[in-house]
Amino acid sequence: MRMQLCTWPEVEGYLKKSSGIIMPIGSTEQHGPTGFIGTDALCPELIADGIAAKLGAQKNAVMIAPTINVGMAQHHLGFPGSMALRPTTLIAVIVDCVNSLARHGFDHFFFINGHGGNTPTMQAAFSEIYAARSFHADGAGLPSVRCDFANWWKIKSVKKLADELFGEGEGFHATPSEVALTYYGYPEDGARVHQKTLEPRLAPLGPIYDAEDYRRRFPDGRIGSDPTLATPDIGKRLLEAAVEELGNDYEAFLKQD
Ligand code: NI
Repeated sequence: MRMQLCTWPEVEGYLKKSSGIIMPIGSTEQHGPTGFIGTDALCPELIADGIAAKLGAQKNAVMIAPTINVGMAQHHLGFPGSMALRPTTLIAVIVDCVNSLARHGFDHFFFINGHGGNTPTMQAAFSEIYAARSFHADGAGLPSVRCDFANWWKIKSVKKLADELFGEGEGFHATPSEVALTYYGYPEDGARVHQKTLEPRLAPLGPIYDAEDYRRRFPDGRIGSDPTLATPDIGKRLLEAAVEELGNDYEAFLKQD
């Protein structure tokens, strides 16, 4: 269940059965001419909802935290709609979100991440969380916590499908995988923005520096990808694979002491 749709007595009741929580984290950034600005946040949300539906039926319900919607995406700021937190800001956001929830008794935080640019900052945030406890023999009075994350597009089952279905068209940004997943989740909006062809079919490849440089190298926002291959049906398959694999990973993570 989504914590935003719970009452506080429901959260209190949940904590008597489980101290785990799924933390969707994404970004608000351009995803080429055919992908939603919210792609990187929408994908982890859809996967988290799927895991809750799958595991909730047979076990205690799964709690899902509010999505961290804005990420470390400075390089996308050359395109309208993109928003970014600098790394230090995102570290502070993650640390404060985890510590808020830890105060209530949550101690296993499973981040499902939708944006590659968040990865180093998330790892730094986890180190800050642990460091605040490690510098004092008594843990500085803070509750002990475990944080883990998964980049959903990199997990084995999703990568296998993407390789089979898209080959080199998968690319690196505004990929058909992430676009397909959102088209499945939001079919009417997907039908509105989908295009049959893009020119060039495969977007250019190259390094990432600042926003001006990015827009010059990658004029329509894509990197190496052909998101015209994205369909809602493929999105469904990718979502089912991600829910299965990450649901298992979440359960294994909860069993860690
Ligand atoms: Ni993305």
